[in-house]
Amino acid sequence: MPKNTEVSQASQGRQNKQLLEISGLKTTFQTFAEVIRALQGVDFTMSRGETLGMVGETGCGKSVTALSILRLLPGRSGKIADGKIVFEGSDLTDLTGRPP
Ligand SMILES: Nc1ncnc2c1ncn2[C@@H]1O[C@H](COP(=O)(O)OP(=O)(O)O)[C@@H](O)[C@H]1O
Ligand SMILES: [Mg+2]
Repeated sequence: MPKNTEVSQASQGRQNKQLLEISGLKTTFQTFAEVIRALQGVDFTMSRGETLGMVGETGCGKSVTALSILRLLPGRSGKIADGKIVFEGSDLTDLTGRPP
């Protein structure tokens, strides 16, 4: 994974600070028949200015990872069951409500 350039880190004044830290992320979907464990412990970090590509077979959880971070899981069935999503120092899983 490419590192931030010194220039971009310095310009942000946040050297060595992670922008996004995902740890132990578990997301489930409650369906009529069963609970689908879509994410079973996702961990990664991103620095400011860094680009991250996610690669994996269809259904492995790429989209659900992004939807979990953005708090755009389907409200009725999707749920972050465990883990942390720390963005700029705040754990988004502690927030209540949905984004505007
Ligand atoms: N709304 C949903 N209800 C039930 N299961 C879902 C829902 N969205 C995704 N899933 C399941 O979560 C798993 C991960 O899906 P997804 O993140 O879309 O995979 P991909 O890596 O192809 O983007 C799959 O098993 C998928 O069927
Ligand atoms: Mg997808």
